[in-house]
Amino acid sequence: MSFTAPIQLPGLTLDPLWYRRSVFYEVLVRGFVDSNGDGTGDLAGLISRLDYLQWLGVDALWIPPFFNSPLRDGGYDVSDYRSILPEFGTLDEFQELVTKAHERNMRIIMDLPLNHTSDQHEWFQQSRSDPDGPYGDYYVWSDTDEKWPDIRIIFTDYEESNWAFDSERRQFYFHRFFSHQPDLNYNNPAVAEEIFEITRFWLSMGVDGLRLDAVPYLYESDEGNGEGEPPTHEFLKKLRNLVDTEFPGRVLIAEANQWPREVAAFFGTDEEPECHMAFDFPVMPRIFYSLRSQQADELVRVLSETTDIPETAGWGIFLRNHDELTLEMVSEEYRQAMYGWYAYDPRMRVNVGIRRRLATLLDNSRAELELAHALLFSLPGSPFLYYGDEIGMGDNIWLPDRDASRTPMQWTPDRNAGFSSADPGKLYLPVVQSLVYNYSLVNVESQLAQSRSLLHWVRNVIHVRKAHPTFGLGSMTVVDSDHESVLAFVRSYEGAASGTQFGDAPENVLCVFSFAHNPISVTIRAPEHAGSDLYDLFGGAKFPAFDENGEVTITMGSQQFFWLHIGTPSRGLPRTA
Ligand code: NOJ
Repeated sequence: MSFTAPIQLPGLTLDPLWYRRSVFYEVLVRGFVDSNGDGTGDLAGLISRLDYLQWLGVDALWIPPFFNSPLRDGGYDVSDYRSILPEFGTLDEFQELVTKAHERNMRIIMDLPLNHTSDQHEWFQQSRSDPDGPYGDYYVWSDTDEKWPDIRIIFTDYEESNWAFDSERRQFYFHRFFSHQPDLNYNNPAVAEEIFEITRFWLSMGVDGLRLDAVPYLYESDEGNGEGEPPTHEFLKKLRNLVDTEFPGRVLIAEANQWPREVAAFFGTDEEPECHMAFDFPVMPRIFYSLRSQQADELVRVLSETTDIPETAGWGIFLRNHDELTLEMVSEEYRQAMYGWYAYDPRMRVNVGIRRRLATLLDNSRAELELAHALLFSLPGSPFLYYGDEIGMGDNIWLPDRDASRTPMQWTPDRNAGFSSADPGKLYLPVVQSLVYNYSLVNVESQLAQSRSLLHWVRNVIHVRKAHPTFGLGSMTVVDSDHESVLAFVRSYEGAASGTQFGDAPENVLCVFSFAHNPISVTIRAPEHAGSDLYDLFGGAKFPAFDENGEVTITMGSQQFFWLHIGTPSRGLPRTA
């Protein structure tokens, strides 16, 4: 398949690398808008707010699972892959969502939890009652729970073993997550076939991509640790081949909470590709570490490590999502420091992480919220926002597990924050009523009415990012600075192939971030740009230029950032909304 030829789909003209330039927005159907007053968000509600998302500048929605499910793990416990939870709506409404999103040039990514099902799934019910029947081998059964002792437990707060005993079949079954989520047995070719058919079912409805939930854990073996084992990659190559041949332009996104090199394996190679995108788990906690330590070194180190990835592959950058802020990718020393800064109340912790939202983590500091978003929108990769973070929504740590940050979206200061007309007691979760983040203060309506609100600020930055394809498509080089609190890198893009909407203008952007809690002066060194001028990407103001040695000294306010166009002012400036 050629990666430069545009792909035509009904209602969409597809740039094959659309996912590299897109701004993604994770939205829980349950938490966004309740259209029928039953206390639970639904597809019709989500459809009714597509205009808001379009206004914000969102290009693609990532929607966590909305399949039929007992909802014991936020829908990641699927009981039927081909139907929708009735309280969320119908397949027809989902089809309408896809159509209406496409009409706005917005794409839909859905979640596919393919490692496990709910124990309520018909396959599991049959598997436990009829070991010799057609589903007998759909799950990972064993006579002992002592197999694979080296496979780590993920939900450390809830599970003591990866095995659970089934009293009906009188055998143990394997589960990487909750014990009500038995792992599918990928050694059975029929299981892989089922997943291929489910993929076809949803992509045929026009879905633009799948987030592959818990994808490292598909296969286990006596030799490995159950994470990214070779047959898992073989399976992904087949899945990618299916997508490329039958549904060109659709994407696979890997959720693999691993180190960069291991995550990169999920991209596959140019010849044998696997996923188009993968979330960047290592960079995320380091942003939070730097914000408190005032040290940029760990970010500099991680970003300086070169990880070869296929030309078309892209990272998914995120600050928060529907899960805990996972601290699995940091050292024990850093983890303890971060617990101290960000989870000083034990209720803020869960598993190996912190169950809080962005604004509460950053103590509602506008400077920190801006700095964190500036990183989100300029690091190499595509940004993934989490619903509500654009208005600085709070959380509720008194709710169980990760529900702390899955409360209803706050639209207005009215009853139930404008999320639902139901009796407040009937809501799937209560709206946030804390002192600082109370829905009467933090809501979309009031932020729309304030031109300097976080919402307007985030929208503006999104539009600046989108005016510069360099952020999505360009390379990144970390550059030297003489200040320990500063991260500086240059994003460079040679220009789109002529004939595309971006023409062929090369562009270099210097991005500088100060994590210092006081103003500083910093000298940045980038010899390859010696003598070049610098212009602020937002307002176009001329900055001190790089001298003949490629050095420039700038002053920065506390926790400030700059995005500076390198070169002549005639190109790329400012083309913002
Ligand atoms: C990752 C999902 O993000 C999380 O919410 C879920 O609990 C686990 N996978 C298990 O499906």
